[in-house]
Parts: sequence; C-alpha cells; structure tokens
Amino acid sequence: MEVENRYVAVRHHVEGSPSVDDFEVKAETVRWTPESGEVLVRNMYVSIDPYQLNRMKRQSASHHSVDVIVPGERIASYGVGEVVASACEEYKEGDVVAGMLAWEEHSVFRPETSMLMSKVDASSGFPLSYQLGALGTSGMTAYGGFYEVCKPKVGETVFVSAASGSVGSLVGQFAKLAGCRVVGCAGTQAKVDLLKDKLGFDDAFNYREEPDLKAALKRHFPDGIDIYFENVGGEMLEAALANMNTYGRVAVCGVIAEYTDPGRRAVPDLLEVIYKRITLRGFFAWDFITKFHEFTAIIGGWIEEGKVHVIEDVSDGLESVPSAFVALYRGQNVGKKLVKLA
Ligand SMILES: NC(=O)c1ccc[n+]([C@@H]2O[C@H](COP(=O)([O-])OP(=O)(O)OC[C@H]3O[C@@H](n4cnc5c(N)ncnc54)[C@H](OP(=O)(O)O)[C@@H]3O)[C@@H](O)[C@H]2O)c1
Repeated sequence: MEVENRYVAVRHHVEGSPSVDDFEVKAETVRWTPESGEVLVRNMYVSIDPYQLNRMKRQSASHHSVDVIVPGERIASYGVGEVVASACEEYKEGDVVAGMLAWEEHSVFRPETSMLMSKVDASSGFPLSYQLGALGTSGMTAYGGFYEVCKPKVGETVFVSAASGSVGSLVGQFAKLAGCRVVGCAGTQAKVDLLKDKLGFDDAFNYREEPDLKAALKRHFPDGIDIYFENVGGEMLEAALANMNTYGRVAVCGVIAEYTDPGRRAVPDLLEVIYKRITLRGFFAWDFITKFHEFTAIIGGWIEEGKVHVIEDVSDGLESVPSAFVALYRGQNVGKKLVKLA
C-alpha cells in the first residue's frame, strides 16, 4: 500500500523565539507492506508542546537527555490516529491509537519499539482529543506533579504560573479539589477571567501588568505560598521563592520563559531555600508512567462529574502546525493546543 504523506519539519535549528518561517511542509510517499511488521496510522490530532522547542536547538544549546530534531526530518509528537493497515495481531484496521506519532498526516510505528503507544477505547464517550491533554500527558504531568511532588494538604496556598495553559488549568482545578486556596497568573485579562469565572481559581492576575512580581505575589498571598507549580521560570520563580512559606514545595514542571531566552534564567536566592527549608523538585511526566491509567481514570471521573473542565485550543490542518506552535510562546493559546488533521 502507498499513501501520500505530508509532514512538518524545521528548516534549521531554532534559537530564541520560533517563527513560522522556521518551518516547512514536506511531501513524500509512504510504502507499507504486510511483511514490514509495521502499523500505518492516519493521524487525527497532533499535540503542540512547549518542550519541542528545546529539541529544535543545536545539540550544544539543548539540554541533557533531549533528542535533537534534525532539520528537514519529521518531528515526533504525541498524537491520536486511526489504524489504516496493520502487520501485527495487536492492532487492527479501524483501531484508534494514541502515543508517539509525528507532525504529519500519516505515521508508521513498530509495536515492539513503540512503548508509548496504546489503543484508545473510542466508546469511552470522551472526545479523542482529550487523549493528548487532560487524559494524556498534560493530565499525567498535572496530576503527578501536583499530588506526588507537591503533596498538598487541605487549607494550603497554591500558586500556578501559565495557569490557563494545558497543564496549569488542570493543576489549579486539582488544587481546589484538594481543598487548597489557589491563585493563578496568565498573560491576558480574558485568561484571568476564565481562571476565576470558569475554572474556580480563588484569584488570578495578569503578570504582564505587574511591574513588580514579588509585590504582586505578596498582595495575593499575604500569608505566603505553600506550593508553587512552576511552568514559567525566570523572574516568576524568583518572585515565588521570595514569597514561599517554611517547608514550601516547588514543583518545577517547566520554564517556558527560559526556552526562548536563556538570558532570563532564574537566579534563585538559595539562602531563601535554606532558611525556609524549601523543596524544589524537577520532574518529568514519564516519572509517573506506571500510574498513567490510575491517574487518567481519576481525572476522567472528575470530568464526567463536572468537577474538572477541559479547555482546548484546536487549529485545523497540517499547515497550521507552525503557527500553532509559535502561538505557545506568544501566549496566544488557551488550554491544550492541538492540531486536528482528520
Ligand atoms: N515536566 C514535564 O514532563 C512537562 C510536561 C508537559 C509540560 N511541561 C511544561 O509545562 C509548562 C506548560 O506546558 P503546557 O503544555 O501546559 O503549555 P501551555 O501552558 O498550554 O502553553 C504555554 C503558555 O505559557 C505561557 N508563556 C509563554 N511564554 C511565556 C513567557 N515568556 N513568560 C510567561 N509565560 C509564558 C503562555 O501563557 P500566558 O498567557 O500565561 O503567558 C502560553 O499560553 C511548560 O513549561 C512545559 O514545558 C512539562
């Protein structure tokens, strides 16, 4: 079988803020045979994630275990798709799968080397797109980061940055369910309204309108912050640390402000960390992979009960992948950023 495939590639390594001109759409013919041992998938949704930018940098500028994306080649990403042809027992034509696919219209995967791939129960009643957000890696990140890393207690105060985004919007709602007082920040008034009016945050503010972040956090947390869920880095982390309570916990999930500008790297006051016995812990979503089904079953239950709202921001068509990606760094997305392909 042969299918015409189009995929998105970077033209060159990307340093600083990405622009749509850094990307190109390429075409190829994909050949699949029953002897290949592979599964051919027609991609329905692909995920747009901030960490991808770190993979687009030159090796020397990228970080640790990040796989560098080779200019001109396809870009692996989480996705949901329908099996079109399968050379293995486990997957049948028509099955819906979620896992590591790519920013392309069709993908092939080999089950024995695709650890992250799983079949989706399409009759669950949830939109398939949720597999990439609340019921996928964003959910696992938010749940694992908040419950396992932050270990919240009833009555504690929680600050969430990038709070209207995919991970942040879930963390804030989980914090309310855990009996905490939660304040989020975001980059527009519309996002601030969403946090307070729809997602149940106790308070929220537009960080772009705050000339002094430390003072803003002091105002919002007169009794200090017990838990900071860090998505942004830079000055935001410095301001949060200055307002943490003794034995406070900081879950370092991401530092998006630093992805585009290494000059903005946070300079945390470590004396603050020592004297207040603050725990700063970085983590990866995949640290919780063995609990993935446990976490997503709980989140799915909350969504069904109306206790958690899912916010998605969906663009259409492969050509919109570059602008969807660039939007993340301009704060133009609200909730989980996805591209619908079919
Ligand atoms: N550790 C892990 O395994 C893991 C897994 C998933 C995600 N993450 C991290 O979690 C964070 C959120 O990811 P997400 O997928 O949920 O993305 P997201 O929050 O849905 O989208 C990114 C948001 O970040 C904010 N932002 C962008 N540039 C910024 C800047 N310079 N300063 C402050 N805010 C900025 C924007 O919202 P505003 O309107 O608020 O500016 C933007 O909408 C990222 O740092 C990501 O790398 C980590």
